[in-house]
Amino acid sequence: MPEYILAIDQGTTTTRAIMIDRQGNYISTAAQTFEQQIPQTGWVEQDPNAIWQSVCDVLLKVTKHSGVSFHQIKALGITNQRETTIVWDRKTGQPIHNAIVWSSNQSLAIINQLKQKNVEDSIHEKTGLVLSPYFSASKIRWILDHHPGAQERADRGELAFGTVDSWLIWNLTNGKLHCTDHTNASRTMLFNIHTLEWDEQLLSLFNIPKSMLPKVHPSSHIYGITDLDLFDGAKIPIAGVAGNQQAALFGQLAFQPGQVKSTYGQGTFIVMNTGSEPKLSEHKLLTTIGYSIDEKITYALEGSALISGSAIEWLKDSLNLFESMDDSESLALAAAPNSGVYVIPAFRGIGAPYWDSNARGAILGIDESTSHRELVRATLESLAYQVSDIIELMELDTGIIVDLLHVDGGAAQNNLLIQFQADILGKTVKRIERLETTGLGAAYLAGLAVDYWRDQDELAALVSADEQFEPHMTIEERQVKLHAWHSAIKAIRYYAKL
Ligand code: G3P
Repeated sequence: MPEYILAIDQGTTTTRAIMIDRQGNYISTAAQTFEQQIPQTGWVEQDPNAIWQSVCDVLLKVTKHSGVSFHQIKALGITNQRETTIVWDRKTGQPIHNAIVWSSNQSLAIINQLKQKNVEDSIHEKTGLVLSPYFSASKIRWILDHHPGAQERADRGELAFGTVDSWLIWNLTNGKLHCTDHTNASRTMLFNIHTLEWDEQLLSLFNIPKSMLPKVHPSSHIYGITDLDLFDGAKIPIAGVAGNQQAALFGQLAFQPGQVKSTYGQGTFIVMNTGSEPKLSEHKLLTTIGYSIDEKITYALEGSALISGSAIEWLKDSLNLFESMDDSESLALAAAPNSGVYVIPAFRGIGAPYWDSNARGAILGIDESTSHRELVRATLESLAYQVSDIIELMELDTGIIVDLLHVDGGAAQNNLLIQFQADILGKTVKRIERLETTGLGAAYLAGLAVDYWRDQDELAALVSADEQFEPHMTIEERQVKLHAWHSAIKAIRYYAKL
């Protein structure tokens, strides 16, 4: 009986499962969306039990579609929306609050208080992160502050914290394992990326007891065996875990220092492999753990554009400018290419390199000839401008000139966007054939741990029919556009201070 690798890809709005064979071919895929909750403007929450249910559903679908039995699954990989914070009761396994999603700003006041304490530099040195409500630490603090008795319960060791990977491992093993991997730990703001340990000073700064935290393992590692009725008695090793952006780096087979990928999801996340030493950014990019295999750590530099695919959804769902996401390309193609319209989709602030939670979005440069087509095109272009800004800073931080950008994620299907990306960067952009690189990365990590693949060289040799986009824009045109884009960013930041 042939054996396969299964990966769960639990993203911000969609849960997917993919099953692949030794050649990296998809045998089957399944996807399911689930509910987002917006209790107040700027807050985003999800029901952890609904997340878990969506995972069970896609696991059943993916095996049903393929006719493959769970007994043929050699290993399971997990990749997940990162930073999203869940706190649950160890005895009952029930969350004490909804999952606070990475993009939620509800812990902003906690971050603002810390900004008065002069701790930014030491947090950056230890964690590679910038002080922002994006990361898990202030979200845990918020939950402990908002549930009477939660701090005491946490101090008594009764509560567990986890990012979504930990929550899934807990449920997949029927509450036996409470663990995470280096990549997810590196997004909590509690993990020292140099010593690879939970940092006592940071724990005390946020007043979070160490007993709440999961055990940290390499991304490619046998975590344990599933214990789930759903699997027909099959005991499947959970053998690969990584946050989704790091998993995408691995799925793009970007194993060499200097290789960069950009994943266009709800946000766009640009990650560069920087090798075995952490490189601290001088431009507010994040230093993070890219992946770890057998205790060997590969570090990465990351730039996060927090709103991108969700801006396209806003055009569709709130402005009703089109019915299906695919329509965005044809509308943008019909727009005037040099309309001078700029959309800054800073719905909940802007991320790298500004990290300005107070900034809000804007549409600039409209006149009476502006139609919905120009708005769609300008919004698509905003995704590419954000990526271009981040790559320029990566080059400054590392001294490495990027000559090729690997792209993936849902919006990467949009040819106009990817051509504009190549144009505005002035660099070649390579679009991978299998756009679901996050799931692929988790599957590869799991397969390596159980010797399904011998080593990374075997993975690097897997064949994929990728497409390349070459830049055509003149340098002068690029400079004019970038200047206008940067002026628009300045304008929204100025407005935020009024
Ligand atoms: O850091 C947040 C990121 O992991 C979210 O990714 O693809 O679920 O929007 P995505």
